[in-house]
Amino acid sequence: MNDSDIILKVEGLSKAFGNKPVLQDATFTQRRGTLKVLVGPSGGGKSTLLQCINYLIPPDQGRVWLDGRQINPKSRRELSAYRQEVGMIFQDFNLFDHLNALENVRIALLKVKGMAKAAATERAMAELARVGLAGKADLYPAQLSGGQKQRVSIARALAMDPKVLLLDEPTSALDPELIGEVLTVIKDLAQAGITMIMATHQISFSASLADEFLFMEKGRIVEHGSPAELLGKDCCSRTQAFCAKLSELAGDAGQ
Ligand SMILES: Nc1ncnc2c1ncn2[C@@H]1O[C@H](COP(=O)(O)OP(=O)(O)O)[C@@H](O)[C@H]1O
Ligand SMILES: [Mg+2]
Repeated sequence: MNDSDIILKVEGLSKAFGNKPVLQDATFTQRRGTLKVLVGPSGGGKSTLLQCINYLIPPDQGRVWLDGRQINPKSRRELSAYRQEVGMIFQDFNLFDHLNALENVRIALLKVKGMAKAAATERAMAELARVGLAGKADLYPAQLSGGQKQRVSIARALAMDPKVLLLDEPTSALDPELIGEVLTVIKDLAQAGITMIMATHQISFSASLADEFLFMEKGRIVEHGSPAELLGKDCCSRTQAFCAKLSELAGDAGQ
């Protein structure tokens, strides 16, 4: 693999809360334009890993390289520049309730990137159009469905031209009938070559797009491999056992 293909490298990331280790020695590399999917039981450390990658939670140990440059978390300026390059999508959208969709997408372009208002508006509208919400620009979060809110939050992240997009269970807070519209947007991004790491329970969706699954349990990446390797018919991976359990539960719930 050519080194310039690697956009993100994570080495030995570890985090404890008090004396409880919640992330232990997370290590992987990611090629440009690929999707990595974090799966595993609740409490396994998926959210902690994502937040340690962009230093929203400062890891106790470990190092991160973005596009060949090692991140120095002690430099506030560097960390702030780095965070602009790593977008984050949360389960609960994290929109500003007092701003409409356009303003939510535009605000960081104005305040962080320092763009002029007309250019920022044009860019924000283009990103809203990309997620199918050009017609909803004037609506406030309270007037949008959960799926629409999540699409605004994706548009907001994309407007910053991130090198990597981190998605933490982006469809888990949505009613079942709204999940598809968000997955369609994520699929479009994957096909457009946006580099992403996504924690999700949407296994069959992810299997068709991911280059690699990372199975996390008790703070460790205990298994990793391509969807074919981990979910193939004759395979008996932890990932496969977990996914079988998930679909059994979904079946029980009548979905
Ligand atoms: N701020 C925190 N303080 C203490 N414990 C935490 C905190 N955040 C997460 N944890 C614990 O870390 C473990 C991993 O959580 P998390 O990363 O959210 O897992 P996942 O996203 O896989 O469900 C859990 O046991 C959780 O209770
Ligand atoms: Mg989580």
